[in-house]
Amino acid sequence: MKELNKQTSFVIYKSISELTNEISDLMQHAKKAISRAYAPYSGFQVGAAILLANGKIVTGNNQENAAYPSGMCAERVAIWSASSRYPNIVIKKIAITVKSSTKQVDQPVAPCGACRQTLLEYEINQKEPIEVFFMGEIGKVIKANSLQDLLPFSFDQSFL
Ligand code: THU
Repeated sequence: MKELNKQTSFVIYKSISELTNEISDLMQHAKKAISRAYAPYSGFQVGAAILLANGKIVTGNNQENAAYPSGMCAERVAIWSASSRYPNIVIKKIAITVKSSTKQVDQPVAPCGACRQTLLEYEINQKEPIEVFFMGEIGKVIKANSLQDLLPFSFDQSFL
């Protein structure tokens, strides 16, 4: 028996104003994407913006459904949109932000497990880390250096 220690570093920015222009611009795209979310059931709108290696930004937002499980998260809408429009292109960064109809979210909202798993698939294929920046509506922004950092001991194609 032995113990395994995994160490992960994240960067915490006090607010969007501490971000570089490139990331701040990406986050603004995610914020704009929120306004196009379809979230009548939860009232919780999520926006995601992806920066590709060709400099293009592809956005996504959550799309809900009266049959609740048929809805989809913003991050997966964004990554599938990016991959369907620009297959095999390297994904550099993703910015994620939210807006709730019931409260002002002032803590960073991390992507759900299924979105992490989905994003990881593309990170593994491109053999280059995808940086993930996430925040609430206001306040701190957290940067993860890769999907691997957000999802240790993940399931991938090597097991199949
Ligand atoms: N949601 C996302 O869009 N991304 C996540 O990572 C977590 C949750 C959406 C799904 C649903 O429309 C709403 O937020 C409330 O769960």
